[in-house]
Amino acid sequence: MPWHLLNNFTAALLALGLLMFIAVMGDYFLRGPHRLPIDPVWQLPDTDPQRGRDAIIAHGCGACHTIPGIRTADGRVGPQLADLRNQIYIAGHLPNTPDNLAHWLQAPRDIRPGTAMPNLGVTEQEARDIAAYLYTATIRTRAPEDTPGPDR
Ligand code: HEC
Repeated sequence: MPWHLLNNFTAALLALGLLMFIAVMGDYFLRGPHRLPIDPVWQLPDTDPQRGRDAIIAHGCGACHTIPGIRTADGRVGPQLADLRNQIYIAGHLPNTPDNLAHWLQAPRDIRPGTAMPNLGVTEQEARDIAAYLYTATIRTRAPEDTPGPDR
């Protein structure tokens, strides 16, 4: 058995592994864990995620949903609203686009009669602001302006 060859081979493998590890970690530290840039498709014009956050609190969405960045939103009636940006369908039904999300938020029961989510009288502007918030609220990143007050 030519041990010296095997050892060279093992050393080469180890060196290669080390190089790959350094490359991956270097990329992680340089670019951070959010490797996907925010796709412009998720950016809604004329919206304000902070206003959306306020609307979420005002409409009591947190009674049914757990939502990142809103401490009191810990409901378990509906799905957790995290990482919505990476989801393909809204409520397992509508293709996930900003327009469809805003539409769902305004009138879920018009879209899907019988859904447990009620129509809550969310206005179009509120719906778009909420959508803007939800698209930024991911598990991996902190939600914007996460400054919970005593009542939030
Ligand atoms: C009474 C409980 C209830 C309230 C209040 C409620 N929802 Fe829902 N929501 C649900 C349920 C249940 C579903 C799942 C619906 C389905 O699949 O038919 C859902 C689905 C959703 C979805 C789709 C989630 C997914 O993963 O596809 C979004 C987004 C959403 N709700 C946002 C909101 C927002 C924003 C509010 C406040 C304006 C709100 N909901 C208020 C119960 C609620």
